[in-house]
Amino acid sequence: MAYNNIVTDTKGAVGIIRLDRPKALNALCAELFEELADALDKFEADENIGAVVLTGSDKAFAAGADILEMQPKTYMDVYKSDFLSQNSERLSTFRKPVIAAVAGYALGGGCELAMMCDFILAADNAQFGQPEIKLGTIPGLGGTQRLTRAVGKAKAMEMCLTGRMMGAEEAESSGLVSRIVPLNDLMDEAIKVAGEIADLSQPIVMMCKESVNKAYETTLREGIMFERRLFHSTFSTEDQKEGMSAFAEKRTPEFKNR
Ligand code: CAA
Repeated sequence: MAYNNIVTDTKGAVGIIRLDRPKALNALCAELFEELADALDKFEADENIGAVVLTGSDKAFAAGADILEMQPKTYMDVYKSDFLSQNSERLSTFRKPVIAAVAGYALGGGCELAMMCDFILAADNAQFGQPEIKLGTIPGLGGTQRLTRAVGKAKAMEMCLTGRMMGAEEAESSGLVSRIVPLNDLMDEAIKVAGEIADLSQPIVMMCKESVNKAYETTLREGIMFERRLFHSTFSTEDQKEGMSAFAEKRTPEFKNR
């Protein structure tokens, strides 16, 4: 598939997806979602890729779902086509780690897309927000749910009800992003971190991601039991044997993804 709205690249074992629709501040149109899903399918199938970085431009990660595309749609259009339920959720089923490297605006669907990633590295100029309320609608890609889980009810409710933006420092102090990086260092840092993850055992990394995500979906007791059973199952892998042997032998482990 030829891409008109994204650019993909690889650096070693890291897949890079750059949202690239500059004239619309990377607004998320249907074609962009389709391309993003296709790129994710390819990186998921590629055994040489261990982690992915999703980014935008210095000015905008993404300024939201494409308002001009949505504007003429009727209730029947969106309900019957189950608008936003197909390609746009592909990130949330992607099994390898994805880091969102966010600079500039991450608004509406852009903030929601970043929150579907496993963690967010924010440039110091990043701005997060759910401004849908100002358009007479509400977040539709999980914003009311993921933002609330990330920053708590008070802040999420204020942001969704007023549409105000949150800068990088507030986003870090409230737990929405893992770290702030100077804008000029953002991609280098994101690729470095993704590369470190990609050097680890891929199946163990996937189990770890699955286990952390379980914390959002179940009770504490069930989540701990899920984690315990996955922890046990790592002992059936060659990579756990290699990792612990390498530690005991004071050498670097060589993981084989088995
Ligand atoms: N959809 C479509 N086009 C968009 C867009 C969007 N979400 N955001 C920006 N653009 C376009 C603008 O129309 C403009 O295009 P033209 O040059 O052809 O007029 C271009 O991008 C540049 O935008 P601005 O001139 O507005 O740039 P600015 O620097 O003055 O302002 C901004 C930047 C504050 C981000 C402003 O563009 C803005 O408020 N954008 C809309 C943000 C928004 O409301 N997002 C939520 C969308 S709804 C949603 O996402 C639903 C959901 O949950 C799935």
